[in-house]
Amino acid sequence: MEGIKVNQIGVSFKGTGSFVPDQILTNQKISQRVDTSDEWIKSRTGISERRISSLEDDVTEMGYRAALAAIEMTDWDVKTVDLIVLATSTPNDLFGSAPSIQAKLGASNAVAFDLTAACSGFLFALITASQFLKGGSFKRAIVIGADQLSSFVDWNDRRSCILFGDGAGALAIEATSEFDNFIGFDMQTDGERGSFLNLPSKNIKDSIIDNIDFLSGGFSPIQMNGQEVYKFAVREVPIILDKLFKKTNYSSGEVDWLLLHQANQRILDSVGDRLKIPREKILSNLEKYGNTSAATIPLMMDEAIKNNRIKQNDIIAMSGFGAGLSWGAALIKWG
Ligand code: ACO
Repeated sequence: MEGIKVNQIGVSFKGTGSFVPDQILTNQKISQRVDTSDEWIKSRTGISERRISSLEDDVTEMGYRAALAAIEMTDWDVKTVDLIVLATSTPNDLFGSAPSIQAKLGASNAVAFDLTAACSGFLFALITASQFLKGGSFKRAIVIGADQLSSFVDWNDRRSCILFGDGAGALAIEATSEFDNFIGFDMQTDGERGSFLNLPSKNIKDSIIDNIDFLSGGFSPIQMNGQEVYKFAVREVPIILDKLFKKTNYSSGEVDWLLLHQANQRILDSVGDRLKIPREKILSNLEKYGNTSAATIPLMMDEAIKNNRIKQNDIIAMSGFGAGLSWGAALIKWG
């Protein structure tokens, strides 16, 4: 297999999988709930419909189905998986949902944990898992992005409820000493601008006994300053990708696919324009799924691999961005 030769341990991309719930919520249907229209949503975001989880397909189930599909694309025995990283902001269990996925898979020799970085979550998880592989600690890893934001959306807020949907995607990656297809990465956060997008705890004060108060659990719906998030994305994403190209001695002209977090078609187009990457190289499926948070990148990747758009040795420039604020980029070669 052709790849970039290295002396140390590198990463090879072996499989993809995804899962979306059956329930479809179209723009038309949303307009029965809030004052909006298919035309407004499509023209401002590119989204036509999104999937909504029912009781049966929570984050654990969606993540499991995506991970299983990714493993099935490889020749791995599930017992040889060493590491499972689940990127999610909406676990079924705040103590972590990754071990439940591990149990469902029967991956009894793996260590599994959650990682939270909102819509940058999958990218951060992929980078994290890759470092374990490159460091020589683990050989086989499953990286999952799964989110169920429908449970945390204010369905009466037309400024935000139109954007989000539920889903999951997963990648199977393996350490190899022959080449390194994980070319480079960069990550950033800026908590100073964190208030632009939050899913905050309710912090309702209660008391345990006299003079000892506590804050009861639970979360408020998503709060978003859409315009500021938009400006942040179209400014920072081209900068971090450009920096990564320079660091890795690549140019945007060498990129076969631009795979961005699927937030808004206008953001995708604007980033592509700034990097001089033509529209036909920008992967997009947000029309069907909306913004599925940590799931968008692996969900899109799985579709493009299965449709034979992404091919062996294609160069893919990825970027995730969102709440935190957080953003990151990775340059990989498929295979
Ligand atoms: N239907 C009809 N009208 C609407 C709707 C709607 N769904 N939503 C807002 N409007 C109205 C507003 O009330 C406003 O009217 P006004 O001028 O009379 O007050 C007008 O449309 C313009 O509103 P803006 O907020 O300026 O609309 P904008 O063009 O910025 O589009 C949008 C809003 C789509 C949310 C855009 O700002 C955006 O995509 N931002 C990025 C958000 C994002 O991607 N968030 C997720 C990040 S990833 C993560 O970590 C989860």
